Amino acid sequence: MMTVPESTPPASASAPAGSLDRKHEAWSALFSEPMSELVQRYTASIGFDHRLWRADIAGSLAHADMLAAQGVIDAEDEAAIRRGLAQIAADIEAGRFQWKLELEDVHLNIEARLTQLVGDAGKRLHTGRSRNDQVATDIRLWLRDQIDELLALLAVLQRALVDQAERHAELILPGFTHLQVAQPVSFGHHLLAYVEMFARDAERLGDVRRRVNRLPLGAAALAGTSYPLDRERVARTLGMEGVCENSLDAVSDRDFAIEFTAAASLGMVHVSRLSEELILWMSQNFGFVDLPDRFCTGSSIMPQKKNPDVPELARGKTGRVVGHLMGLLTLMKGQPLAYNKDNQEDKEPLFDTVDTWRDTLRIFGELVAGLIVRPEAMERAALRGHATATDLADYLVKKGLPFRDAHEAVAHAVKEAIQRGIGLHELSLAELQRLHPGIEADVFQVLSLRGSLDARAVTGGTAPVQVRRQVARHRARLGKVPGAA
Ligand code: ARG
Repeated sequence: MMTVPESTPPASASAPAGSLDRKHEAWSALFSEPMSELVQRYTASIGFDHRLWRADIAGSLAHADMLAAQGVIDAEDEAAIRRGLAQIAADIEAGRFQWKLELEDVHLNIEARLTQLVGDAGKRLHTGRSRNDQVATDIRLWLRDQIDELLALLAVLQRALVDQAERHAELILPGFTHLQVAQPVSFGHHLLAYVEMFARDAERLGDVRRRVNRLPLGAAALAGTSYPLDRERVARTLGMEGVCENSLDAVSDRDFAIEFTAAASLGMVHVSRLSEELILWMSQNFGFVDLPDRFCTGSSIMPQKKNPDVPELARGKTGRVVGHLMGLLTLMKGQPLAYNKDNQEDKEPLFDTVDTWRDTLRIFGELVAGLIVRPEAMERAALRGHATATDLADYLVKKGLPFRDAHEAVAHAVKEAIQRGIGLHELSLAELQRLHPGIEADVFQVLSLRGSLDARAVTGGTAPVQVRRQVARHRARLGKVPGAA
């Protein structure tokens, strides 16, 4: 991505009369003095919106094509615009393009250069168009492409989780509620819970995409235009699903950026929850997993340390994305129709949201694929905390006890086991039979972690047979064969 210097860009060559090149010039003939440098800096967006250049050029090409088809400009002008914009795209790509602060934003920079390159044809490009519908179009086009990349990254992350889940369908760790040992669960099942979350994130994003992918061009400044534009043609050229149906709404609302950021916030919250678990699991007290060294850092003072910086940062960066959502909502709330310059403030939070989510997903796809799992530590932990107490109560119910009575009887057994520092499965058959005379030797299978896991074979349950069903369903949905990278 192009970097635009924070300092004033180099002074431009002296500008021909009537051009947009206006350093030290007033805005137009209406103005009697130029902006101060501070105001110029304050109002300019080129420092960040240059990122929209591809979308800006694509939008201009589609607009010019339509203007020519409608006879608003002639074929020669259109050809000149095409040639000029191709040159500009090549220059930007190669890092040769000179962005100018005095030209305020990406739109004016590109248009001014176009006019320098091709003369009057360049000045005709803005016929029937305003920067208001232009910028709204650019953001939508740009965001649509970012969404497609994010969707691909969400799929990669889900596949990495599904691969690990399949590998560890039989591996048992303690499931928690209130962070207290609750019942044994399959590690695969645990990972697939995140696949469900990321699948919903993708579904939400796809839904947002439909509303992003609509065309504002033709709304012009706010009221539409008197030129005979063919808005549908422009929408088709740009691969958009339709046109924004009200010109005032088209140029002013940024709800599409807000709902994107809301979807991103939820997406980051899900990554943050996974991060929190990885951090816990990697701590010495759990020891359930390890992260490859390439995702960790050491300590400058404590030689023994290996810190899970990546998940910690992801957890931290979630705050900033949620912050952007609040920023954008607040940006919108007081604006009267139609366009207001406030909206220029939509870009930095939106860009940062995309960058943060994208980099996080990218890194988590790799991190999950490289996760080092410690089965012994998980199973050892599952054996502590009497995780199969519910199974014993269910067994007693099968022997005819009402569930409440079974619950109470097992509570006594747990108390005894705690006092003696043993697991429920370590009580003798005779001791267990004191709870209920009907208890038989098969109780030990019920009290085992494996027995507990296998018993939960209801749809969506943690039994390995169900975990494999989930894996198959996700693989079919994600369109990838098992084991494929
Ligand atoms: N840079 C502006 C933005 O980001 C472009 C639109 C400016 N329109 C205007 N009427 N000043 O919103």
